[in-house]
Amino acid sequence: MSSYPQWECRFGKIEFSKLGLTRPPFFKKASKTFYDAIYKEMSEETINYQNLPEYFTKAKTETAANLKSHLKDKRILSWGCGTAYMENVHFPDEDITLVDLSLPAKNLGERQVFKATEITGWRGDVVIGIQMVFHLSNEEVNQFFKNCGQLLVTGGKVIITHTAAKSFYFDFFKTMKNFAKVLIQRRKFYVLWGWRRQNSTYASIAFKNGFRLVDVVTNKVNKEQIMVFTKQDDP
Ligand SMILES: C[S@@+](CC[C@H](N)C(=O)[O-])C[C@H]1O[C@@H](n2cnc3c(N)ncnc32)[C@H](O)[C@@H]1O
Repeated sequence: MSSYPQWECRFGKIEFSKLGLTRPPFFKKASKTFYDAIYKEMSEETINYQNLPEYFTKAKTETAANLKSHLKDKRILSWGCGTAYMENVHFPDEDITLVDLSLPAKNLGERQVFKATEITGWRGDVVIGIQMVFHLSNEEVNQFFKNCGQLLVTGGKVIITHTAAKSFYFDFFKTMKNFAKVLIQRRKFYVLWGWRRQNSTYASIAFKNGFRLVDVVTNKVNKEQIMVFTKQDDP
């Protein structure tokens, strides 16, 4: 299995059943409304950069250390920035434009967060998608790389991070287990949260859109894959 779907009933401490939303159809991906409700709930928990969970801040600190050399003095776009913890805490002085599908109700940093439709004129050197691409369907991943091709200069980089799928039997077992949980725990509010994929799946979609994989590193804290692609010369 080069990719498999994942259903979740909570995000950190936030249980989806408590968000006051109608359960979406089983095979329909979590919508913007869903992220909006999660961020609203997080804001109501008086979220700020000091009280984020330690496992989260440690993992982002490790990602930041791996990204540092790629981001120095570049024009950067962070796609799916979420709380923008890594960008605002670790890279306060870099030229970073923030984009997200859903905006946290409270802006936690100095930088403004834009919608994708507001940054079509942006051109630069690096697009980062930290723990974002797993939310996208294969078609949307393809569109993401296509958009990056238009936004980046030749030689520009796309850096994504994701938790990788492992092997056919392991992934098949995980999918069945997840599926069974959803069926057995009917009263819980499960939502199609994203897809686990192998690095090769991302590499092949990127390649079709003119990007070559140049580096893969594993984050030592959360084991996510940090994949670096460069945009090839325009034909
Ligand atoms: C798991 S969070 C990661 C946030 C942040 N990058 C981090 O590492 O903490 C995924 C984020 O991607 C955003 N997202 C999901 N689909 C998106 C899309 N199609 N375009 C832009 N952002 C998207 C969600 O709103 C959410 O803020």
